[in-house]
Amino acid sequence: MKGIILAGGAGSRLYPLTLVASKQLQPVYDKPMIYHPLTTLIEGGIREICLISTPHDLPRFQQLLGDGSRMGISIEYREQAKPEGIAQAFLIAESFIGADSVALILGDNIFYGSNSFGPAFEDFTTGATIFGYHVNDPERYGVVEFDASGKAISIEEKPAVPKSHFAVPGLYIYDNEVVGITKNSKPSARGELEITAVNVEYLNRGTLRVEKLNRGFAWLDAGTSTSLHEASAYVQTIETRTGIKIGCPEEASFRSGFLTITQLAEIAKTMPNCEYRSYLEGVVKEANQIE
Ligand code: DAU
Repeated sequence: MKGIILAGGAGSRLYPLTLVASKQLQPVYDKPMIYHPLTTLIEGGIREICLISTPHDLPRFQQLLGDGSRMGISIEYREQAKPEGIAQAFLIAESFIGADSVALILGDNIFYGSNSFGPAFEDFTTGATIFGYHVNDPERYGVVEFDASGKAISIEEKPAVPKSHFAVPGLYIYDNEVVGITKNSKPSARGELEITAVNVEYLNRGTLRVEKLNRGFAWLDAGTSTSLHEASAYVQTIETRTGIKIGCPEEASFRSGFLTITQLAEIAKTMPNCEYRSYLEGVVKEANQIE
């Protein structure tokens, strides 16, 4: 399975923070926001990743992440000239996807908790898998409605009157049909190729699975100054209590078997003396003790 991170958009709600660095490059406590979706894909066993952003911001991502080898993965970059919809990612990355299945994650989505996505990645064969997360303000999102047996029966984008409290978070797993489905979909009233239209097509075909995320799981938004601050506070609280980092791609790569202990130790050595390096050295030390 290939992975796409969509990290474009104007980030206007975070202005003036986003005058120089895009939203997905802003710090969430001790790391750039983009480290979180990157880590989620790596934890899902994905090591071939395509990052899509604006022509203006793409060079900054390349500067930060390079070709990915420093993290045991490979990263390709593609431009989205204009924000013409989340589903446009499948057209921009068509040659990257090739004949594979693909997971798309939004660059500003932060997930943390039990291994809720693991089985969805591991067991995926055909169709589409998306998720449902109980929120207070479903009208801001794609909203999924379930019948009494727990089967998804409708999905609507930002409905004025939501049919449930279950929002669809920005992680989507599709088979290769997604490219053709996107090509056949028409831009919405707001001029975008909507990810919800793609999901509705899978629903109509009877090949959509919607997995409810459990209560112990966190899906954080970081799109406004307040929610960005809250996400930082959340990450700081958990990291300080546990001594375990959230959204650390090097560690995730090591745990997914993309980096050996020796490689992880070498990577840590290339970093300046800092808390992040000490953390990775601690991961290496602990792993060596177990071996
Ligand atoms: O966060 C999950 C929600 O994301 C879903 O529940 C909705 O169904 C889905 O439509 C989307 O909602 P938004 O309309 O709020 O997404 P937004 O336009 O804010 O874009 C989400 C991220 O994707 C944002 O960081 C910018 C980036 N993006 C968006 C578009 C439309 C791009 O890079 N390119 C684009 O063309």
